[in-house]
Amino acid sequence: MTVTTRGTLPSYLTEGRAVFPEGFIWGAATASYQIEGAARDDGRGPSVWDTFSRTPGKVASGHTGDVACDHYYRYADDVRLMTELGLGAYRFSVSWPRVQPDGTGPINPRGLDFYDRLVDELAGAGITPYVTLYHWDLPQTLEDRGGWTARDTAYRLAEYAGAVHARLGDRVRHWTTLNEPWVQAFLGYGSGVHAPGRQDPASALIASHHFVLGHGLATQVLREAGAEEIMLVINSSPVLTPAQAHDPAAEPSEADAEAVNRVDCLLNRQILDPVLRGTYPAEVLEIVERHAGLGHIHDDDLREIHQPTDVIGINYYNPCVVEASPGEAAVPAWPGTENIRFAGIDVPKTVMEWPIVPTGLSRLLLRLSNDYPEVGLMVTENGAAFDDVVTREETGEHVHDTDRTAYLDSHLRAVHAAIEGGADLRGYLVWSFLDNFEWAEGYHRRFGIVHVDFASQRRLLKDSGKWYAGVIKENGLA
Ligand code: NOJ
Repeated sequence: MTVTTRGTLPSYLTEGRAVFPEGFIWGAATASYQIEGAARDDGRGPSVWDTFSRTPGKVASGHTGDVACDHYYRYADDVRLMTELGLGAYRFSVSWPRVQPDGTGPINPRGLDFYDRLVDELAGAGITPYVTLYHWDLPQTLEDRGGWTARDTAYRLAEYAGAVHARLGDRVRHWTTLNEPWVQAFLGYGSGVHAPGRQDPASALIASHHFVLGHGLATQVLREAGAEEIMLVINSSPVLTPAQAHDPAAEPSEADAEAVNRVDCLLNRQILDPVLRGTYPAEVLEIVERHAGLGHIHDDDLREIHQPTDVIGINYYNPCVVEASPGEAAVPAWPGTENIRFAGIDVPKTVMEWPIVPTGLSRLLLRLSNDYPEVGLMVTENGAAFDDVVTREETGEHVHDTDRTAYLDSHLRAVHAAIEGGADLRGYLVWSFLDNFEWAEGYHRRFGIVHVDFASQRRLLKDSGKWYAGVIKENGLA
């Protein structure tokens, strides 16, 4: 398979029918803090994102998730919209502080009631729930006790996982422990761009270990309780040199290859290897030891972490492009990245300034299925933010988001190419079902295939949503 970037896209990424395997799962994803609102209702406790977003200067325009998409109260209408789209699967996350306000101790039954209602509504609509237990909204009480730098938080995750499974396990078969642990560790504890906003690189490294430990412990609890499928969702980017981003056949120099390998170890293998192989790459251990010591990695931890995981969920938006740059200082929040330059590439970008490289997705999926053949794969997030405009026409209101449709089309063709190349790919979920609270960017960045007017809470299917409904119906691209 040849892969190149947009501008010189191979024809399989731009045209022709692409029919997906029978039973391929089509869906969309969201996360609790980004859509639910109802931040103080029915006994929900505060999360680190409540604290962070209410702290001036942390989130664009001072936006918070207090109301968000008001999905907590509008879930039934939202499920109806999912039916219109023909979604087969819906990935959502459970708000830990809604279910267990202090992150430990008493369970709040009213919090669980909401997910109970949602799961029943989905069942009635024939939509399969994919439940993520933790999508960044840590109960504030746990953060006050050290958050993810405290080993105990990993054990609390397992306890909470058991409580959610006890309530929903009779109807939910697909369980995800964590969403993007790397992002939480390094943006939450390293750069401080995300909640809880700590800026301590050593803490990021320690948190990263506690996340995978939490995954292993929660997996054991879920498995014991009879969970059918257990997934870990990661932010996985192929790490490429600028030349490779344009032409995958390009051969990196020895120095560039070392830079690529180091970043791949730090970004991808730091999470994947302990979970799927029961080891840390030597490169990672050396960096962790230098910056944080190894005292937080206990003797038995890798055995606890290395539990059978059924599926790795891939959240893909763009590749990570690096090259060797002798003398370059490390990214401050990211230990181990010295002598490396994070390079820009000359390709179209989304409004997040993320380069659009669909071939990166096929490359990533093929690489993962080659390196970790024992685990299934699923694209659990893929999508793009663009400046959408609502137009009023004779036929009503519209969002003609052709750039989003083009993004999704090209990435789905890349997914199809990876399947043809042998990747064990179970399904594809668009990020996102709704425009929502985009973390530090607040409501300024819209990723939805459904437009949300945040003042009135009106939903409007974008053109990309209508297009996606057609893809689902046809089980492929025309
Ligand atoms: C990945 C995260 O899981 C999700 O919460 C976020 O909104 C998207 N990336 C887009 O940034």
